Amino acid sequence: MTRTRYSTATTLDGFIATDDHSLDWLLSRETGTMPGDFNFDTFLPQVGAVVMGASTYEWVLAHDAGWSYEQPTWVFTHRQLEVPSGADVRFTQAPIPDVHAEMAESAAGKDIWLVGGGDLVGQFHDHGLLDEVIAAVAPVTIGSGKPLLPRHVELSLQEVAHSGEFACLRYDVIRPA
Ligand SMILES: NC(=O)c1ccc[n+]([C@@H]2O[C@H](COP(=O)([O-])OP(=O)(O)OC[C@H]3O[C@@H](n4cnc5c(N)ncnc54)[C@H](OP(=O)(O)O)[C@@H]3O)[C@@H](O)[C@H]2O)c1
Repeated sequence: MTRTRYSTATTLDGFIATDDHSLDWLLSRETGTMPGDFNFDTFLPQVGAVVMGASTYEWVLAHDAGWSYEQPTWVFTHRQLEVPSGADVRFTQAPIPDVHAEMAESAAGKDIWLVGGGDLVGQFHDHGLLDEVIAAVAPVTIGSGKPLLPRHVELSLQEVAHSGEFACLRYDVIRPA
């Protein structure tokens, strides 16, 4: 059954990027070999569809060496942005439940990965469409920045691990009754 999973790295004070979209606080760190689903080599093969917001997409285009996602990727935006050659990227501003249904059909039983940002993940949660939060917590606070998940979300702790400099936490989302 398809799970909708938010997996990200975060600062201890709950930011996934600085105000000016820098990830320098993250990229310099020793990750070690993360166990289980904290490790992208294990996590990514379970994913059948990827979704992200426009800022995250622009960051990936600007910083990653080539497009690395094999899965179809939905990008929420009000703009038409460039698409790397060979990438299956679908720009959308459709209602979240409609896009989620389209992604679930495309994923065919595999999982949906919510890459971020945090408010977009919150929009999925607003519709009861967030199942899991996986957070690799870096040993740093940055005071302000782009939020991890700017909503009230009740979580049930499922797994705790330690890898390199990171505390790795996995939670199930507790759906409102
Ligand atoms: N630490 C990590 O592992 C990690 C993980 C993921 C992301 N990040 C970083 O975190 C930052 C997140 O940036 P962000 O907070 O600005 O979030 P974002 O979700 O990446 O981008 C926000 C933009 O997405 C579009 N958007 C969001 N919801 C929409 C909707 N319902 N309909 C249409 N468009 C919608 C809008 O773009 P338009 O202006 O086009 O309308 C909005 O300005 C980025 O710098 C990213 O690189 C870090």
